[in-house]
This record gives sequence, C-alpha cells and structure tokens, in this order.
Amino acid sequence: MEVIETKIDTSSQEYRENYQAMEAMVEDLRKEVELARNDRSEKARARLDQQNKLTVRKRLELLFDRNTPFLEIAPLAARGMYDKKVHSAGVVSGIGIVEGREAIIHANDAMIKGGTIYPMGVKKGLRIQTIAMENHLPIINLVDSGGAYLPLQSEIFPDADDGGRIFYNQAVISKMGIPQICGVMGLCTAGAAYIPAMSDEVVHVKGTGAIFLGGPPLVLAATGEEVTADELGGANVHCRESGVSDYFAEDDAHCLEIIRQIVKNLPPPQKADIGIREPKPPIYDPKEIYGIVPRSLDITYDVREVIARMVDGSEFLEFKERYGPTLVCGWAYIHGYPVGILGNNGVLFSESSLKATQFIQLCDKRGIPLVFLQNITGYIVGKEYERIGITKDGHKMVNAVATATVPKFTVITGASFGAGNYGMCGRAYSPRFLWMWPNAQIGVMGGEQAAGVMITVKNDQLAREGKPPLPEEMVRQIREPIVAAAEREGNAYYSTANMWDDGILDPAKTRDVLGLAISAALNAPLRHDVYGYGTFRM
Ligand code: COA
Repeated sequence: MEVIETKIDTSSQEYRENYQAMEAMVEDLRKEVELARNDRSEKARARLDQQNKLTVRKRLELLFDRNTPFLEIAPLAARGMYDKKVHSAGVVSGIGIVEGREAIIHANDAMIKGGTIYPMGVKKGLRIQTIAMENHLPIINLVDSGGAYLPLQSEIFPDADDGGRIFYNQAVISKMGIPQICGVMGLCTAGAAYIPAMSDEVVHVKGTGAIFLGGPPLVLAATGEEVTADELGGANVHCRESGVSDYFAEDDAHCLEIIRQIVKNLPPPQKADIGIREPKPPIYDPKEIYGIVPRSLDITYDVREVIARMVDGSEFLEFKERYGPTLVCGWAYIHGYPVGILGNNGVLFSESSLKATQFIQLCDKRGIPLVFLQNITGYIVGKEYERIGITKDGHKMVNAVATATVPKFTVITGASFGAGNYGMCGRAYSPRFLWMWPNAQIGVMGGEQAAGVMITVKNDQLAREGKPPLPEEMVRQIREPIVAAAEREGNAYYSTANMWDDGILDPAKTRDVLGLAISAALNAPLRHDVYGYGTFRM
C-alpha cells in the first residue's frame, strides 16, 4: 500500500482559519458533554448520598477494568428537550471492558428525576439493544429507576417502538444466547421491574435495590396496604422468597464486583477473524483534519487528506482511482483492522455509484468491514444524467449498501443530504454505528434549496392560474421559516439529541473510535457466508 502524499499547506491562512473554527467547535462539544455529565441538582446529589448509593459514573468506574476505554453512546441524547435537564436521556450507555471483555452497559442516572424513563430514554434503550444484537455484546443493565416518566406516559407506552419493545427484545436477545445481566441498584418499578425479570442473571443490592410491579404509593392507593419498598421487593424478599433475584449484594460496590465475576465466567467470545495487522499511527497528525475541513459545506476538499490522517501509516490502496472520481474507494487498516473506505469527493454520478457497488461487493465477499465517510449533497440531477440512468445506478449502490453483510460504520463528516444519505449508509441502512462531526448537517436538502423548491412550486401554481409570480415580500415569508427550520433541525446537535446518530465526534478522535467500534463489531460472526444481493437494475 502506498502512503498518501499530502498536499496540505499547514502554514496557509485558509488552513489556520479552518483549524481555529473546528477547534472552537470541538471545545463547544467538550463543554456540552461535560455539562451532560455533571449538571445535577444539589438536592439530587444529597438524596443519593443519604441513600448510600454511588453515582452512575462511579458505578461504571467500578464495573470497568482500570484504564480501559469507554465508548459512550449518545451522551447528548435528549439535549435541549423536556426541561433541558434530562441529560443523556437520563441514562448512561456505552461499550466498556469488563474482565477483559467488551460489553454494553445501560445504567439509569437516579439523579435525573429518580432515573425515570423519558421517551428518549426508551429510544436509547432500544438502540443499545440493537447494538447488542448486531454485535453480540453482553448487556449489563444497572437499574435504578422509578419506571415511566408519568407526565409523558402516552409517548412511552403504547406503540410498537415504545417501552414494551424493550422487554420483547430482552426475550429475543435471550433466545439469541446473548448474556443479559442486571444489577438492581435502586428501585425497579413497574416497567423497570421487567428489566431484571427478563434478564438472565440478577444481582440485587440490600437496602436500596427493590423490584415490584407497583411501588408502595400504588399499593397504598390500590389496596390500602402500607409497606416499605424493602418489605415489598427488597433483596431479602427476592433472593430468599420469590427467587426473582439470583445474587445478594451488600452494597453497590459488591454488586458490581459480582457482575464482574459473572462476566468472567461467561464462555469466551469467538471474535471474527478478519486478518488483523500490527497497528501503527498515521504519519500525519489526525488533528490536522481541523485545518483541512473547510468552514463552509459548499467548499469541496480532497477526502484523501482526511483518510491520510485516519488510517494506519497513512497507507491506502485506492480502487479505480481514475474512474468515478467523486467517490474515493480503497483499502486501508485502522488500528490494525482491515477496512474498505468510501469517501465522498463531490456529487455522486453514475460512474461513482457503479464503482461503489463493485467495491462494496468486493469487501463483502472478502469479509472486510466498510467505513463510509459521508459528505454528500446527493446524486447528480439533470436531463443528461437521467438519460444515462443515474436513478438505476444510484439504486445499485443503495441496494449493495443495504444488503452488504459485513459490519458497516458511518461518519458524517459534512453534508448528509437526500438520497446521498442512503447511498452513503445513513442511519436507515443499519451501519453498526453512525457518528457526526460537529460541523455536519443533515436533511432532505439544504434550507435554501428547500425554500427554492417551495417558491418554484408556488410560482408554477400562480402561472397556471394566469397570475404574476410571488412578490418579494411573499418570497421572504416562504423562505425564512424554511431556512430557519433547516438550520435549527439540520445540525449535529439536533441530530444527536434525537439519536439519529450515536454521538458527535472530535474529528481527531475518529480513528480511535472506529478502532473500538470495529473491535466490538467482531464479537458477532461475519456472516459473509450469506453473501448475496437483491436484483440489480441493469
Ligand atoms: N414520573 C415522573 N417523575 C417522577 C416519577 C415518575 N414515575 N418518579 C419520581 N419522579 C420525580 C419526583 O417527582 C422528583 O422530582 P423533583 O426532583 O422535581 O422533585 C424526582 O423524580 C425524584 O423523586 P424522589 O421521590 O424525590 O426521589 P427518591 O430517590 O426518593 O425516589 C423513586 C425515586 C423513583 C424511587 C420514587 O420517586 C418513586 O417511587 N416514584 C414513583 C415510581 C412509580 O410508581 N412509577 C410507576 C411508573 S410506571
């Protein structure tokens, strides 16, 4: 493989201005994540101390092996929603290392409204289960929750992808043979009671942990019976009498130690063998990506410069370099794992779509994970391109992306618009993980373009009626709200708050995150033995 030769002038004014702009965005991101971690009321902190419970972060610290990375999923979920205080959707989730093994953790934060489950908390729970199922990762649930956040119950309960789906999935995950371990570290009320109930093994903390379908207030209201939480569903009840729980823990630390022992006892994972090499860092500093990525999405740049700062030794074997040049495809290694990379270098044409389709098939056949660096305004439009068949060539690419069986990973590094989002493995195409860079934008199309379409539609209508086109003032009235909505709802923070992605990344850390994610994905068999596609429209 050849080393990519950079053409970037790190002393140029443009580079410096880009660098400063991205650095500021990364600093904002750091502050946002810190706020999500630490912004808790004094009252909630005092209540936790009084109950002798550890904070959710301390629990994770004790659960994980020392000095190992934690790949947090969606730390900014629900940002700006509800009362703007339901940080991370009230639950800390991610992939960590327990007794040398990758596991996915989902832990309620009791300092956020008693760990109750908001609609976005349900969405996050479902996402975590999807990750567990796709990557065959054991799930560890640390439950400390008042169940459904009752004022929003209609958004949590009735539909197919609401709360009930979590327990349905638990049954499916159990059938798949993926271990599910639950620590009962606070109340597991109502819906939350089913999380331990549907788990394989339950560790129950004395004094603070309790499981019941209806809590003491409900029991009092329904039956007039006065009981404490401990009498109703404490560790003694469930470890000695009901048999709901399997292990008795003296306190939080003991509970986490027992969970570690359970994980240690699991049969070792059979990780897929994809031919790993000795990892080596890129020869160019990944932080230089800051200066490479332009400040405006309208300005193009060579994605090879980003690849050069992401892959081992900056080495890249480019496939069909001279054909379909608006999509760069090629092979490289990331932290020693072989990958096939597809990165946009402009709008997608028929040639670039055909090239992508062939490249995806090759990677899929060979069992090489796919990495999509998505920065795409869409497929080319126009009479000439329709005649050549851009729609059917785009279809081939979308078809291949949808049905490729190797693990797929997507990083939205800039624009994510229209069908380009589909072809470059957007969320609906089931990449194992999808992240955004802080500068990224997502939508059917940009705000100006959407406004332009709406104004044209209106003017065409008026023309049909024999009326003059919209006056300037009316054009403004149509354009402004559409552009404002696209800006508000098309940015990376809005996306991550809604969990359209798994988090916003510091571009310089993308390589490390990809390494962790690929490693986690290899817990599941590669399945390229079931290689095959639908019918390609020729
Ligand atoms: N829905 C909405 N808010 C809830 C809630 C629920 N199910 N349960 C608790 N809260 C809120 C409380 O109003 C309080 O809000 P505040 O901080 O604005 O005052 C906050 O969560 C903490 O509750 P508090 O009771 O002070 O804390 P705690 O640590 O002593 O107990 C619970 C937490 C969750 C164990 C306890 O509040 C409880 O038992 N809640 C009811 C659980 C229930 O019956 N759920 C049925 C759901 S299907």
